[in-house]
Amino acid sequence: MAKTVKEKETPADPAAERADEEKRLAELRRVIDRLDAEILRLFNERLEAARAVGEVKRRLGLPVRDTRREAEIFRRLAGLNRGSLLADRYLVQVFAALMAAAREVQSGSPHAADGFGTPSLFAVFGNPVVHSLSPVMHNAAFAATGFPGIYAAIRAADIRPTMAGVRALGFRGASITIPHKEAVLSCLDYIDPQARRIGAVNTVLNEAGVLKGYNTDGEGIVRALGERVEIAGKRVAVLGAGGAARAAAFGTRREGAAVTVYNRTRPKAEALAAALEVSFRPIEEFDPSDADILIHATPVGMSPNAGETPLCRDRLRPGLVVMDIVYTPLRTRLLAEAEAAGCVTVDGLSMFVYQGARQFELWTGIEAPLDIMRLAVETELAARG
Ligand SMILES: NC(=O)c1ccc[n+]([C@@H]2O[C@H](COP(=O)([O-])OP(=O)(O)OC[C@H]3O[C@@H](n4cnc5c(N)ncnc54)[C@H](OP(=O)(O)O)[C@@H]3O)[C@@H](O)[C@H]2O)c1
Repeated sequence: MAKTVKEKETPADPAAERADEEKRLAELRRVIDRLDAEILRLFNERLEAARAVGEVKRRLGLPVRDTRREAEIFRRLAGLNRGSLLADRYLVQVFAALMAAAREVQSGSPHAADGFGTPSLFAVFGNPVVHSLSPVMHNAAFAATGFPGIYAAIRAADIRPTMAGVRALGFRGASITIPHKEAVLSCLDYIDPQARRIGAVNTVLNEAGVLKGYNTDGEGIVRALGERVEIAGKRVAVLGAGGAARAAAFGTRREGAAVTVYNRTRPKAEALAAALEVSFRPIEEFDPSDADILIHATPVGMSPNAGETPLCRDRLRPGLVVMDIVYTPLRTRLLAEAEAAGCVTVDGLSMFVYQGARQFELWTGIEAPLDIMRLAVETELAARG
């Protein structure tokens, strides 16, 4: 009996334990080596099939790049991967590498499938800009499509020298964000008529030194909202009178809505209302029975001030469609209270992805990989908590 107790108390031989763990490690590494070899074999088998597809495409006179098919493949992979250990951001990279290699073997030569030259530079300029999700979204799109682009977030205190830098350094494109969307207009060589009407530019395209300005926010809002509700004939209330609010008022009015702008500062709302031929009222006068759709377009409630909301909950009513274009956090206090009040809610993610997709298409001339852009933003938001 005493012996048993003694045996139990005797510490295990550390050298033997270590030897066991090393044996286990060696076994696991053999499994990994075997799996790596299998993955490589499967990659090459896949490329053989892709090469054969390339030959068929050549005979049929079809182009190597097929964005729709690539998006289909990606959707399928993302679905199969749901709930797995492989994080979606790595799936995007694996997918991008697979597509790039497949395009190369289909075309028979490196880069020929893309027809692209040296990498192009892109950036979002704003102040502050460090939390921008645009780099994650656009770099994922470049990786997935094989377009050789590099996208950074750059803090810009003054937009004029920044635009001179874009020209001098040969940036291919830029996203413009708070607080420069209006001031940037005077730094450009050409302004798209729609952006001029809105009075704000969020996208710059540099065509051989000629800087062209566009606004993709309006299209982003209309596309995101239009997925959830018919806009034509509705009464739309826009909260705010900044760049995003102007895009919201312009976009929804063009879709056939009757728009009223509500803003804290009266002269700004008056100017917006006059320029876009919409109505305005002070924000305190917002009455939910006067609107079918409410678009919140101020930074109130954005991190790190997520506890704030632009409207008291007693201004919400069941059936009102409430869109918050703030997307950090995705579920703002306004949306949480709107949901509790029985409103239909639309968050800012789809608008962000759609405005970014249009930017990507303006810069590259190729169809934006929407699914990948959305997934990249969603996973980044989830990672940031
Ligand atoms: N989802 C997307 O894709 C997307 C795209 C663009 C922008 N956004 C978001 O939209 C928001 C607005 O952007 P913006 O470019 O339009 O900004 P902006 O040009 O600076 O305009 C800000 C507007 O918000 C109002 N405002 C600011 N603080 C306020 C407060 N405490 N109470 C009441 N009103 C207040 C301002 O009113 P005053 O006139 O009284 O100063 C102004 O009308 C930002 O959070 C931005 O991140 C989202």
